Amino acid sequence: MQNAEDVDLESTMDEASLRRSEQVSDDLKRKIAEDASPFRMLTGDRPTGKLHLGHYFGSLRNRVELQHAGVDSWFVVADYQVITDRDAVGEIRERVYGLVTDYLAVGIDPEKAVIFPHSQVAALNELMLPFLSLVTDSELRRNPTVKAEFDASGNRPMSGLLLTYPVHQAADILFCKANIVPVGKDQLPHLEQARVIAQRFEKRYGRPEGAKHPIFPRPQALLSEAPSVLGLDGQKMSKSRHNTIELGMSADETAARLKKAVTDSERTITYDPVNRPEVSNLVQLTALATNRDPVAVADEIGDGGSGTLKKVATEALNEMLAPIRARRAEVEANQDFVRDVLRSSIERANDQANDTLREVHKALRMSYL
Ligand code: TRP
Repeated sequence: MQNAEDVDLESTMDEASLRRSEQVSDDLKRKIAEDASPFRMLTGDRPTGKLHLGHYFGSLRNRVELQHAGVDSWFVVADYQVITDRDAVGEIRERVYGLVTDYLAVGIDPEKAVIFPHSQVAALNELMLPFLSLVTDSELRRNPTVKAEFDASGNRPMSGLLLTYPVHQAADILFCKANIVPVGKDQLPHLEQARVIAQRFEKRYGRPEGAKHPIFPRPQALLSEAPSVLGLDGQKMSKSRHNTIELGMSADETAARLKKAVTDSERTITYDPVNRPEVSNLVQLTALATNRDPVAVADEIGDGGSGTLKKVATEALNEMLAPIRARRAEVEANQDFVRDVLRSSIERANDQANDTLREVHKALRMSYL
């Protein structure tokens, strides 16, 4: 591959291209609302820990809505990604079962969704070989998400797997021919890389004879609209800071966490994320839980102070979480069910991956029998 063909993945992070991505994403949302049948989404998570409200409002809730709208829904449990960018997360099997349990608890429909760890889909992983031939080392080195993961990994040297991670993620997306990928902005460079791979594949190997469509559609990002929520101390919500509300917590644990939430000494409650991040975050969580406007929520509490705010937030979140917790407890008590969901999903993912790999071998003139 020539240098001139390198893509500038860094540019996927600049303002203008972010606007463009948002535009594309908004158009897609309109189309999905009209008719969801042409859409297949693939998205996923690394199985690194328990899911919390940040995940719920930031992505899970949206995924459930997309599935209800009729979008064909595929979820990759990125277990190989854990050996890519983490030293250890504890028992991986437990993490995977926990993640699937959370998915089912929030309302992902296991009858329709495909939920699979990518380690269990050999042909998906094999796609990495032809895909690797379509990228250059310099574009991988310039991938901002790879850089960020590398910086976050402490002093570990860059592994070959981390450097080529975007190609692996492209395989996650392209093996099932997903055309939409609900993700956060931080994943835009990976998505651009997946699009570039799809495009270069077609350019180099052409389309199947007589085909109207290329083997790989160009996947587009569906950006989450939800504002990101903070932890209860006003910092980024993250497990290691003990400032989260996990989906698996009880109502009492949730109340206790909220009681200790950081606020400020101003009596009147307002929604002012810039100047009052902690108070505004509690207002925001309440608004998200009740599908209301945060300014209206703040106005209603008014002079009630942070005591009332915490009480209102606790009630709103516990009410929203009640059915999720009930389902979570049910699923947790029935791990055989989770295993069945995994088994049938892995089978479907393998069927799909084998079909795609066959098409790829054909395009590469590598079918011999
Ligand atoms: N890399 C994503 C993350 O860190 C998880 C992921 C793996 C993913 N494969 C994917 C997301 C495919 C979307 C599509 O959160």
